[in-house]
Amino acid sequence: MDYAGIDSVVFGAQDLKLARRLFSDWGLEKRRDTRTGLVFSTRLGSEVIVRPANALGLPPSLEGGSQFREVIFGVTSRAQLNRLGEDLARDRAVNADADGTLHTTDDNGIGIGFRVWRHGKEAAQPGTAWNGPGHRSRINAISPVYEAAQPYKMGHIVFAVPDTRVAEAFYRKRLGFWLSDRYVGGAGVFLRWAKKSEHHNLFFVKSRTGKTDLHHVAFEVRDVHEVFGGGKAFAEKGWATEIGPGRHPISSAYFWYFKNPLGGAIEYFCDPDHVTEQWQPSNYRVNRFAEWHLADGLGNGEDKSTFARPSLAAVRAMAAQKGA
Ligand SMILES: [Fe+2]
Repeated sequence: MDYAGIDSVVFGAQDLKLARRLFSDWGLEKRRDTRTGLVFSTRLGSEVIVRPANALGLPPSLEGGSQFREVIFGVTSRAQLNRLGEDLARDRAVNADADGTLHTTDDNGIGIGFRVWRHGKEAAQPGTAWNGPGHRSRINAISPVYEAAQPYKMGHIVFAVPDTRVAEAFYRKRLGFWLSDRYVGGAGVFLRWAKKSEHHNLFFVKSRTGKTDLHHVAFEVRDVHEVFGGGKAFAEKGWATEIGPGRHPISSAYFWYFKNPLGGAIEYFCDPDHVTEQWQPSNYRVNRFAEWHLADGLGNGEDKSTFARPSLAAVRAMAAQKGA
């Protein structure tokens, strides 16, 4: 069973003003702004929905205390939606909205929902043309420099759970997700929503506190320059880096994570591996979170290195001497 993507992620925010500034600065497009909540859209159309924490009908918070409430996945047809609803109703409450969206919880108590995909297919996004030895494909042109990110879609969502095996069993056996990779001993499991998809669309990591909670939501951007430019712009607006920029050896993606005041983190990423049914899952024994990364984004600590940096002050000083 294949899914089309993350349709929406729902928060129940204590501070709507903060959430408004957060997702505007993040580069999402504001679609709705009323007293009943905010709707922000990625370029593909998938949505971040923020409702007041005490809004009626919101799924409950997770035990870890974040303001995350629900993730809704897009299914490819009404028939698939009906099949899913019937199967899940065998052992849990499944509620349907007037528009057909189904709401329930997974086996870790995480609010999940399903609706027929309404956002169309991904359109090819012009990113970087890469130059390398023997393939010079960017000629007389510079790579893009981004003043801010415009996230294209939500590519994955990650939760900390007390038992990743419970999560793996539920998402693979009941929802038809595919295994991409694992860490040994139940430390983590990477899943994807279609046999041909990005390396992971869901990742469950073993909770350090034993509590279930949102870990992060990841937004895909066009290329590494948008990760850098978007991350830099967001950091300069005062939002704190969680970790990054850097690169994951698992999935190959470049990343920059920021602290999310609504819980967990939000991530810009690009260039994930795309895998098919031929992909062979690995069981990783050592932490392979980052091949390299900066700890604090802009590197605000004092940097004393002068290696290979032209000193304009020195050039001016020499010019002044010559003129004298
Ligand atoms: Fe991620």
